[in-house]
Amino acid sequence: MSNAATTRLSALAPRGDFPLLASHPTMHYLDSAATSQKPRAMLDALVGFYETVNANPHRGAYALSAAATDAYHDARITIARFLGVADADTLIFTRGTTESMNLVATSWGQSHVRAGDEIVVTAIEHHANFVTWQQLALRTGATLRIVELCDDQTIDLQALRDAVNERTKVVAITHVSNAVGAITPVSEVVRIVRSRSSAVIVMDGAQGVPHLPVHFDAMDVDFYAFSGHKMLGPMGIGGLIGKRALLDAMPPYQFGGDMIEWVLDTESTWNVLPHKFEAGTPNAADAVGLAAAVRYLQKLDITQVRAHELALLRIADARLRAIPGVTVFGPAAEYRSGVVSFSVEGVHPHDLATIFDQRGVCIRAGHHCAQPLMRRMGVSSTARASFYVYSDEDDVEALCAAVVEAQNVFATAS
Ligand code: ALA
Repeated sequence: MSNAATTRLSALAPRGDFPLLASHPTMHYLDSAATSQKPRAMLDALVGFYETVNANPHRGAYALSAAATDAYHDARITIARFLGVADADTLIFTRGTTESMNLVATSWGQSHVRAGDEIVVTAIEHHANFVTWQQLALRTGATLRIVELCDDQTIDLQALRDAVNERTKVVAITHVSNAVGAITPVSEVVRIVRSRSSAVIVMDGAQGVPHLPVHFDAMDVDFYAFSGHKMLGPMGIGGLIGKRALLDAMPPYQFGGDMIEWVLDTESTWNVLPHKFEAGTPNAADAVGLAAAVRYLQKLDITQVRAHELALLRIADARLRAIPGVTVFGPAAEYRSGVVSFSVEGVHPHDLATIFDQRGVCIRAGHHCAQPLMRRMGVSSTARASFYVYSDEDDVEALCAAVVEAQNVFATAS
């Protein structure tokens, strides 16, 4: 823990475990909400798949193909266990959260949502969990209801109560906001939705799984989506977890190899879960890489990850708020996960990011794929610093020093 002037909060995971960070010792990587850095253990597992068991899973009768099949299967089990999913076949591998949301909206949505039905989203959603449902509403004639936010950008639970009724078919809601870090009170949301409707709850876990303990079987949401690259895994792999009864009843999302049972000239039947939703050659190497990332996170302990980020958030909030002209968005640190979204009076967020970059401080500036939220906050964009297991107090200090430097640059220029 940070302690007076002497002890600084160090990283939870050694920087040396991350080749990119190790080779950039002066870089302050504060954009983990966009994508995380990758530990050597994950990279070795990814390359190890191609070096030792590479063959097409489920296709060959020979031993190498069986080894590839086993590696892919074992990866699914490791990741399912980490997410509190007992029935691993209800974890469908996808390219990530965006594809998972499109899978649910297309497969479940188009077969269940009709004109006159209602779809509930919130104003804090990432576009992947907003536009997807907006477009389903436009295609089907359903009404899209948008739950508004409190002044601190948390979901207004009374507005949620008002929005959900017996016509609601789906409630699509994020676990953690990518733009301001606000954490959704999941059990409260589930209680509200279940008490007022038989709606299906779809949760965007892209920023949840990397930072908070997730136990899908205990959450009572119907679908939960996540992305591997934000949790130390490779890009291009993620997943959709769903309740088996829903997944079993849903039509396939894509057609091709591996997802069929029989193909007759005029019709086809479908394979069992998870294969029904995994058409084509599976992304086995990335699944194996993601399983290695999960093992790395398990060793760190996800509750320690949360505690570490909260400690950094508290330091960052206090120091940033002490700088005149800085506004930090979102709720208090204990209700946020790993993200500080802020603005600096008189300096555009894009200019901040450019000046920060010259000091080796990497942040994201923009609307963070959350334009409905930005409109409600009365800004077009924010600067966003986001932490992870390799972040430390030096990163926070560099961030704050960069803010002051940017203010000085603009003061001199004006
Ligand atoms: N969704 C990612 C972010 O929040 C890209 O930056």
